[in-house]
Amino acid sequence: MRSLLPLAFLLASCSTAQEVRLPDLIPLPAQYQLDKGTLDLGCPWKVEVSNERYRPLAELIEQEIAPLHPSSDVNCLVPMTIAMQVITPDTLLPPEWYALGVMTDGIVISATTEAGLFRGSRTLVQLLEQGRETGTLPCLSITDWPRFPWRGMHLDACRHFWSVEFTKKYIDLLARYKMNSFHWHLTEDQGWRIEIKKYPKLTEVGAWRKGSQVGPYARLEHDTIPYGGFYTQEQIREVVAYAQARHINVVPEIEMPGHAMAALAAYPRLGCTGGPYEVQRGWGVFEDVFCAGNDSVFTVLEDVLTEVMALFPSEMIHIGGDECPKEAWKACAKCQARMKSEGLKDEHELQSYFIQRIEQFVNSKGRKLIGWDEILEGGLAPNAAVMSWRGTEGGIAAARSGHYAVMSPGSHCYFDHYQGDPANEPLAFGGYTTVQKVYSYEPIPSELKPEEQKYILGAQGNVWTEYILTPEHVEYMAVPRMLALAEVLWTPKEKRDEADFLRRLTVEFSMLQEMKVNSSHSLYQATILSTQGPTPGVIKVSILTSSGGKIVTRPWEGSPWLAYVHPFLIDGDYRVEARTENDPALGPVSARSFHFNKATARPITISIPPNERYNEGGAFTLVDGITAQEKRVSTEWLGWKEGVTITVDLGSVQDVRTVSIGALNETHSWIHLPERVDFSTSTDGKTFVPVGSSEVNAGPGRNAFSLGKVGKARYLRITVKHIGKIPEGLPGAGNPAWLFLDEIEVR
Ligand code: ACM
Ligand code: ZN
Repeated sequence: MRSLLPLAFLLASCSTAQEVRLPDLIPLPAQYQLDKGTLDLGCPWKVEVSNERYRPLAELIEQEIAPLHPSSDVNCLVPMTIAMQVITPDTLLPPEWYALGVMTDGIVISATTEAGLFRGSRTLVQLLEQGRETGTLPCLSITDWPRFPWRGMHLDACRHFWSVEFTKKYIDLLARYKMNSFHWHLTEDQGWRIEIKKYPKLTEVGAWRKGSQVGPYARLEHDTIPYGGFYTQEQIREVVAYAQARHINVVPEIEMPGHAMAALAAYPRLGCTGGPYEVQRGWGVFEDVFCAGNDSVFTVLEDVLTEVMALFPSEMIHIGGDECPKEAWKACAKCQARMKSEGLKDEHELQSYFIQRIEQFVNSKGRKLIGWDEILEGGLAPNAAVMSWRGTEGGIAAARSGHYAVMSPGSHCYFDHYQGDPANEPLAFGGYTTVQKVYSYEPIPSELKPEEQKYILGAQGNVWTEYILTPEHVEYMAVPRMLALAEVLWTPKEKRDEADFLRRLTVEFSMLQEMKVNSSHSLYQATILSTQGPTPGVIKVSILTSSGGKIVTRPWEGSPWLAYVHPFLIDGDYRVEARTENDPALGPVSARSFHFNKATARPITISIPPNERYNEGGAFTLVDGITAQEKRVSTEWLGWKEGVTITVDLGSVQDVRTVSIGALNETHSWIHLPERVDFSTSTDGKTFVPVGSSEVNAGPGRNAFSLGKVGKARYLRITVKHIGKIPEGLPGAGNPAWLFLDEIEVR
């Protein structure tokens, strides 16, 4: 089809004699093999379609691949053809199936649907990117289809608001990795983000708040900078069309009955008390919700959903349903009357009534309802699908009762969690979900029988934006974790290979950089670990990486990097920085500063081990030379649900001026300060003499319980008294409080 200069031809045949490797694709195709020969990419490209119906798709692809053309001076008689054809299958092929062949004279993509052609074209783009440098591609054959039909990403546009332009860039990322569902979280306590013509105050009032919470959750600090924004219906249509052209379904989420403060602020009559209500500045769960006893509330919500369904062709409409406190309903005469007239035995059944009534409406318009797993409580609406976020139980219960489920458990799918050592990460919601952990995710719970497994539609990664203020930060949290999830959801389970994925990711990172996507390189972080050394008072410092790269260290910024060879011992204040050398961007530097006091790395005993959830480094954590930070709750603090007695051996009788222990005050996370801390000392380890107590009732965050003028001691005993149950009026009231302790300091 084309003529090449003889020299170019020779070079091409030489390159096939060398080791030819398959280009690196994410997600990995189901079937992917190398064929003989090479395709020269130097001639002009022409995208041909089997039917003019697919011309808009062809034009989209032509636009995308134009910049990927290698610079070349080959003589061409005819262009290189990229043929895209929709074939009628003679067998039942999976939806989104495609086949792609790179041959010596062109590329062919075949599919049975336009969606399949589009997925194949994503592979084409990644192939051409990798052929750009050599100007060739090896001949190859791909036959490919997704493992799951729901491959989703979510974006919270309420806690922080994202422009249409950025939302499209986010959709581009989904498309690149063959994801097909965009869950757009549009209403919340902190902002209503979708224009509803019939109820203009939803955005006139509900889209704006008077300030935002700043910093760690527990501090409950707010600024007073007005914040808001919303999408006009025209903008919504634009985003939906943009996604549709990329064969991505947009699932709108309109939250009810909870997370509704912005709507209540706009129309106070929708609440149980009639208000006044405010668009919330802070994060969390709020007691005022839509009144379930008032028929006009349903009328308004049905009107809203009618406009929403006109904008979104999605078969599934997400109505939230999560985190709905029942306090307002308990105190509302209308809600109580509803419970009586409908024969509902408690407020959970009232929530179920609410959701079922909305489901009937959604079904009457030919759509299906999906909600967070709380919609199971009090009885699941007959046709509803469940999005399982509080673990996998919701998905399991749904599948067992013949309802569809999308898995989105916090453990693997919440991309607002930390993805590296929190010491080196921007403030995040909590949790610890590395890219490797996402990659290890298996969406089908092992509890399900084979006939129940078909109800698991797939999974979704969630990006909640309480702590995410910029588009760059959204990208940082989503990438590369969404790539790992995309491969989990697309690639056959038996082909999943973490080491190979991480290798392909290094190639992909350079493309992401070119696309100006602010990927996180936390995966390459070096982890600086400290453990008890061989003798008291000595800490062993080890530096690890899960990415396999060579580790280099230095004591301070600006000093030369030296190879890390093996763990080392320290017995005094020390600072270390470390990073790995396999990061293509020479990325994140981890740093640790160790501060020694008389208790550091000394023998320590505790009367009761910490709760297994918060026992990362064991008792040594309390004397490891590192004072825990608020944001590192799951890694640096030890957690108990009861009191504890701690004994430290200083090694010899010494003059002790002060002793202190840190405790965390974060009542929104159920973490409370101890009631009191008692100190006693001993010179022989047998007879302990009380020397004093400490009580503090200070602000949020870390509080030190300390005692001065302790006197002569070799052994120090610290008895920490737990407060018992969480007091009334505070989050988690009636449950045992968490007690979080960290560094002991003796001077
Ligand atoms: C949720 O994270 N509240 C669904
Ligand atoms: Zn009510």
